Amino acid sequence: MQFFGVPFTVFGDDSLLYLNTITGKRAYIVTDKNITKLGLVDLVTAELKQANIECKIFDEVEPDPSIETVIKSAKIASDFKPDWVIGLGGGSSMDAAKSTLVCYAAGIAPLDMSPSDFYNLRAKAKLICIPTTSGTGSEATWAIVLTDTAGERKVPLGSYETLPDVAILDPRMVMSMPPQITGDTGMDALCHAIEGYTATWRTKFTDGPGLLAIRIIFDSLKKAYDNGKDEEARKDMMYAASMAGTSFGNGMAGLAHSTGHAIGGIFHMPHGRAVGLYLPYTMEYLAFGSDEARERFAEIARFCKLAEGDDKKCSKALIDAVRKLAKSVGQPLAVKDTNIKREDYVKAMPGLIDRAVNEAMTIAVTRIPESADMEKMFICAYDGKSCDF
Ligand SMILES: [Fe+2]
Repeated sequence: MQFFGVPFTVFGDDSLLYLNTITGKRAYIVTDKNITKLGLVDLVTAELKQANIECKIFDEVEPDPSIETVIKSAKIASDFKPDWVIGLGGGSSMDAAKSTLVCYAAGIAPLDMSPSDFYNLRAKAKLICIPTTSGTGSEATWAIVLTDTAGERKVPLGSYETLPDVAILDPRMVMSMPPQITGDTGMDALCHAIEGYTATWRTKFTDGPGLLAIRIIFDSLKKAYDNGKDEEARKDMMYAASMAGTSFGNGMAGLAHSTGHAIGGIFHMPHGRAVGLYLPYTMEYLAFGSDEARERFAEIARFCKLAEGDDKKCSKALIDAVRKLAKSVGQPLAVKDTNIKREDYVKAMPGLIDRAVNEAMTIAVTRIPESADMEKMFICAYDGKSCDF
C-alpha cells in the first residue's frame, strides 16, 4: 500500500479570496515580523474578516524555527482555541504552523510527534498554508524541520496529519521577494524536484510533478531573479515549488538535503543556499556510482532539452546546467566561496559527517555513502572539485 497526498490547492490571481469562503470562528496566523511589515498579514486578515473569522497573529517565527518558538506559539494557540491554523511565510513559518497545530490539538511536545501516530488534529483545527517564497514546498508536504538550538541540529519531524488541508498560491505574496531569497529558495525547489525524481521512494505519482517542476525552474528561476516584477516567472516558480514539494513530499529528498542540513545546523547557512550548493556534488557522486541515478538524470536532461545522446553525456549536461543556473542566481558554487573558513570546516567535519550519514534522506538514494565517501564529498564541495569517485 502506498500513499500520494496533496492539499486542496488554490492558485493564480486573487487566490486569497478563497479565505472569505471558509467557515469557522477563529484563525491563528503563524508568521514572521517581516511578513507583517510587508503588509501581507493584512491581506490575509482582510479576507478572514469578510468571513467573520476572528484572527490572532503570532509573528515571532525566526529563520530555522526553534522548538522553543513552537512551544510558545502552541501555548498562545491553546488559549485562543482556533479552528483554523494558518502558516503564512516561507518554510520556517509554515513548519512552525504545522508544529503549532500538532502541539495545540494533540497536547504533545514538538519532538514527540511521530508519523506513525494518529492525533485526530482536525477535531480541533484545520491547516492552511500560504507561501511567501517559492522554494520549500512546505505548503504541499507534511514534512516539518525544526532546529534543536542546543544540539545545533535540524530535526525532521511531521505526521501524515500535518499535510495542509489547503494551500493558497497567490502571486501577490511572492512579488516582493528580494533577489537573494528568490535565488536561495529557487535552488531549494530544484533540489526537491531532482532529488524527488531520483529517490528510491519515488512513485509514478511523484514522477510527473517532479519532472515538470525541474523544466519550469530551468525556464523561470533566472527570469524571476533578474526581474522580480516578471509576474509570469513569479507564478511559474510558485507553482513549480509546490509541484516539487508534492514530488519529494510523497517520496523523499536526498544527499543534497542530508549534507545541506548538516552545514545549515552548524554554520547557519540559509537552507536553499546550503542544499543548492551541495546538489551538483551529490549528483556527481550518484551519477559516478549508480547506473539508476545516471539513467534518471539523463531522462531529466532530455526532457528539459539540455542534451541528447547516452546517459553519461546527458547526466553530465544536467549537472553542468545546475551549476550554471546556480551561478546565474547568485549562489556560491563551493563552500570556499562562502564565509566559512577551511579550518572551521575541517574542525566541524566529524559533526558534519555524523549528521549527514544519519539524516533520514540518506536512506532513499540509489547509492548510500559510508562516512569515508561522505567526508570526500564534503571536501570536494569545499574546494570546488568534482566528486568523481
Ligand atoms: Fe529543502
